[in-house]
Amino acid sequence: GLDISKLRGTTGVVTLDPGYVNTGSTTSGITFLNGEEGVLRYRGYPIEQLAENCEFIEVAYLLIYGELPTDEQLEVYREKLSTHTMLHEDLRLFYDGFPRDAHPMAILSSVVGAMSTFYQDSLDPHDDWHVEVSMVRLLAKLPTIAAWAYKKSSGQPFVYPKNHLNYCENFLRMMFSVPTEDYEVDPDFVSALNLLLIVHADHEQNCSTSTVRMVGSSNANIFASISAGISALWGPLHGGANEACVNMLERIRDDGCNVKKYVDMAKDKEDGFRLMGFGHRVYKNFDPRATIIKAACHRILEKQKLEDPIFDIARQLEEAALKDEYFIERHLYPNVDFYSGVIYRAIGIPEKMFTVLFAIGRLPGWIAHWREMHADPHKRICRPRQIYTGPTVREFVPIDQRS
Ligand code: ACO
Repeated sequence: GLDISKLRGTTGVVTLDPGYVNTGSTTSGITFLNGEEGVLRYRGYPIEQLAENCEFIEVAYLLIYGELPTDEQLEVYREKLSTHTMLHEDLRLFYDGFPRDAHPMAILSSVVGAMSTFYQDSLDPHDDWHVEVSMVRLLAKLPTIAAWAYKKSSGQPFVYPKNHLNYCENFLRMMFSVPTEDYEVDPDFVSALNLLLIVHADHEQNCSTSTVRMVGSSNANIFASISAGISALWGPLHGGANEACVNMLERIRDDGCNVKKYVDMAKDKEDGFRLMGFGHRVYKNFDPRATIIKAACHRILEKQKLEDPIFDIARQLEEAALKDEYFIERHLYPNVDFYSGVIYRAIGIPEKMFTVLFAIGRLPGWIAHWREMHADPHKRICRPRQIYTGPTVREFVPIDQRS
């Protein structure tokens, strides 16, 4: 019932809300989140049902266009995406310039930003064809860009996409195939990756999505906006937490598996150490994505007969923290990043690629929000205010009179 047009042009009291804890920046019909009850729905569909039944690009379609695709629509979409998976050979040259130890998230945001130099034919955010083709290019090419970032770091030759494979199969093949051996894509890995991408696909106004909207609100093109979103996601308080979490679990393993010591360290504010993969701005009961991922983690380790001490440490850490007053009082529970790294490890994904996988998953959400924002007749440039705390007016002092 809120008529946003009535608010247009109003100025008045400026509210101060550091971190935008209680500030709604937009209305949105994409994702529903109830942090108290641990509910997450994309376009009305519970995340649990989508994770169990869908293919990732089906969910991408749902987020972007608002409805689940029919068989025929999905086939057309698949076809569209598969014709855009290649990178321009000149874009490939970018990889020669990056240092071998460059973080793949830095490569990802640079190459996506550079797409605006290669696709100048489709940069107008107000032209439907431009937007449509850019969205398809982004979704189709991001796995190739990501897999090549890994190949660069490992010094192996790049593997080109094979378009008869599905989205996840294609990515895994581009990551792990080498010229000397055939790579058989393991169906268990494909379904685990598919599930992880789905649970990461959108999460309303999180830091990276708000960044995409913020940049896009100036009418910057979609590649520039998504590139900014990737940079925001990289931080360890956001998507970078999955990499930081596994680093932390390895540190606990190497330090004698004393989980209690790390729970205690996280309570001490002096050194700034936090339990990575714990806590969430919105979920104050449990993160439904973490529940789905923990179960998937069990499944894949059991099915593959893998024993990973990191998983046991994660479980012990969760148990110890959930019994601890500090964590109980502050409603700190494992979040989406707590168990995802264990699955990535089982698939053979190196740690530096964890956040890249998050970016591939989140891309449809970023695109859906960018598109929703541009479709809003009341769209305005995002421009928060501040409460000024600097000096009041003072007379200019010439340089020879300054002490
Ligand atoms: N370990 C220890 N203490 C924590 C943790 C943690 N992981 N998270 C929050 N706290 C404490 C804070 O120190 C603070 O304590 P205080 O009230 O005594 O000052 C209280 O809990 C509230 O924390 P805030 O930082 O104010 O909560 P905020 O909503 O701003 O931050 C965040 C949420 C960033 C997720 C935080 O919980 C955190 O840093 N977690 C670890 C990083 C992480 O896992 N990030 C991934 C988030 S999910 C995602 O982006 C995909």
